[in-house]
Amino acid sequence: LAISVAVMGFGTTAAVAETVGFSQIGSESGWRAAETTITRQQAEKRGIDLRFSDAQQRQENQIAALRSFVAQGVDAILLAPVVSTGWDNILMEARDAEIPVVLLDRRIDAPDDLYMTAVGADSVHEGEVAGGWLVDEVGDRQCNVVELQGTTGSSVAIERKQGFENAIADHPNISIIRSQTGDFTRSGGKEVMESFLQAENGGRNICALFSHNDDMAVGAIQAIKEAGLNPGEDILTVSIDGVPDYFRAMANGDANATVELTPNMAGPAFDALQAWWQDGTLPPKFIQTPSTLYTQADDPEGEYQRRKDLGY
Ligand code: AHR
Repeated sequence: LAISVAVMGFGTTAAVAETVGFSQIGSESGWRAAETTITRQQAEKRGIDLRFSDAQQRQENQIAALRSFVAQGVDAILLAPVVSTGWDNILMEARDAEIPVVLLDRRIDAPDDLYMTAVGADSVHEGEVAGGWLVDEVGDRQCNVVELQGTTGSSVAIERKQGFENAIADHPNISIIRSQTGDFTRSGGKEVMESFLQAENGGRNICALFSHNDDMAVGAIQAIKEAGLNPGEDILTVSIDGVPDYFRAMANGDANATVELTPNMAGPAFDALQAWWQDGTLPPKFIQTPSTLYTQADDPEGEYQRRKDLGY
């Protein structure tokens, strides 16, 4: 079934999509679980045989999975890279085997001829949208922000932080007073927020929380309540992802804003691969997904239900 056209180092195009290996980071967040569900749905809908590997947050597991996919001779690989560095050698192995690799939702520090395309949001922009919301919300008021960072070394944690800092750079009344990783998990967010609250006069010195994802924010909201404060009022919360539980928290007044990251990265990724297989069309190096801001004014209960219907 091979059409036998070699283009730009990705070997031959195949007339029929066959097997795709997917190295997923893990299931650290509601968003991640939804991405897995939707990737499986997209593969099934298109008749693609998806070989799934859960790395449980470890890069070495991802490298072993990629090596196994290469040995199996899959037609393509989807990689959601847990951290941004350390991929060159394994990606060279995939390239030598003429297997195209598509990056999902996180970026890597590697020459761009080592992968076919990357599907995801502009994470600096996500941080800027989140920070921009806070700037508008607090106006001239003094505002001490605590930040829950995502997984250390991940592109999204580095870039969301950068974007938020860009947004507040010209607003000296807003400053980040504490910043620590909660590893993108609900329990990590709660635990770190507890320590922030304790260190900052039971939370009374804190005006806002910027969380790199909704799951950590949901954990932090719990911690704020347990400290006797009202999240969404005493401490404003702005976050990223748009998972149902966070929309529920917005509907209840416990959370203020989130920047949506679509969990459907696989749709555009499979579109790109199928075009490639069909006639050798190469996608752009970056396929950007939208970053839409939602607040309490945007029908959070309805958005909750819509996300549930999507496969969250
Ligand atoms: O890479 C995307 C991030 O990873 C999501 O924002 C977060 O929830 C996930 O774990």
